[in-house]
Amino acid sequence: MQRQNIIITGASSGLGYTMAQQFAKLGRNLILCARRIESLKQLKVELEEINSSIEILIVELDVNDHEQVFKVFKEAKDKFGSIDRVIVNAGIGKGASLGTGYFKANKETAMTNFVAALAQCEAALEIFREQNFGHLVTISSVSSQKGFRGAFNVYAATKAAIASLTEGIRIDLLNTPIKVTTIHPGYIRTEISHATKKQPFTVDVETGCKTIVKAIEKEVNVAFVPTWPWAMMRYVLPMLPLSVMRKFS
Ligand SMILES: NC(=O)c1ccc[n+]([C@@H]2O[C@H](COP(=O)([O-])OP(=O)(O)OC[C@H]3O[C@@H](n4cnc5c(N)ncnc54)[C@H](OP(=O)(O)O)[C@@H]3O)[C@@H](O)[C@H]2O)c1
Repeated sequence: MQRQNIIITGASSGLGYTMAQQFAKLGRNLILCARRIESLKQLKVELEEINSSIEILIVELDVNDHEQVFKVFKEAKDKFGSIDRVIVNAGIGKGASLGTGYFKANKETAMTNFVAALAQCEAALEIFREQNFGHLVTISSVSSQKGFRGAFNVYAATKAAIASLTEGIRIDLLNTPIKVTTIHPGYIRTEISHATKKQPFTVDVETGCKTIVKAIEKEVNVAFVPTWPWAMMRYVLPMLPLSVMRKFS
């Protein structure tokens, strides 16, 4: 089944921006949301050059404004007739070790990556349940597999939480026409990862998004991408001793 009308949150940069370009090449209509409307305007121009036959709606949206999330998704459904896929992608990586004065940043990461993702999943599933079809995709991370130190304390916890939430939703919707996918990207060069020092196995955003879009199109339950080394690292990470985890930042 071709998913024609796709909502992507966090489309103003990084994975969201590049996924939008790749879905435009596949001829999909796109509803693109983020706070930075100027970036979305630039993206819309690029997408119209990539494929002039698709419909594109850009919407200024702060996913922490939960009422707005429901409203934007519902209005998109009314405009496009149906929503076939929602990609819950918006996320941040702010924060520091607990007890060091960064509660505000840690809380912002928790709210954006988990509570706002919950709002997006709720809003998507209200539409999908009413339609009796749809594909929910959440963007977790390989860091969901283990506790991480320092700046990644809360980030990794939110990614474990969204992975668990997505699996629970999948159980609820087993054997229904509503499909549910969790994507766990490894290190992909974007604004979020620029803040951290160079990580092993980092790939550029086009390469990363090709593997993400392929997994989304296959509608797999869970994908660790790019496959090498992350499909294997998902099993290795939980076994690593904490002394080794101290070296990850
Ligand atoms: N890059 C990696 O290596 C990697 C690995 C694993 C998982 N991920 C996940 O992939 C997702 C995308 O990240 P990225 O790497 O593409 O980073 P990015 O370039 O920093 O993009 C993050 C996107 O999220 C949006 N966003 C953040 N807070 C928002 C808010 N309150 N409301 C609406 N949109 C918001 C940003 O848009 P505005 O600022 O314009 O609102 C931006 O478009 C995140 O969930 C991240 O955790 C990334």
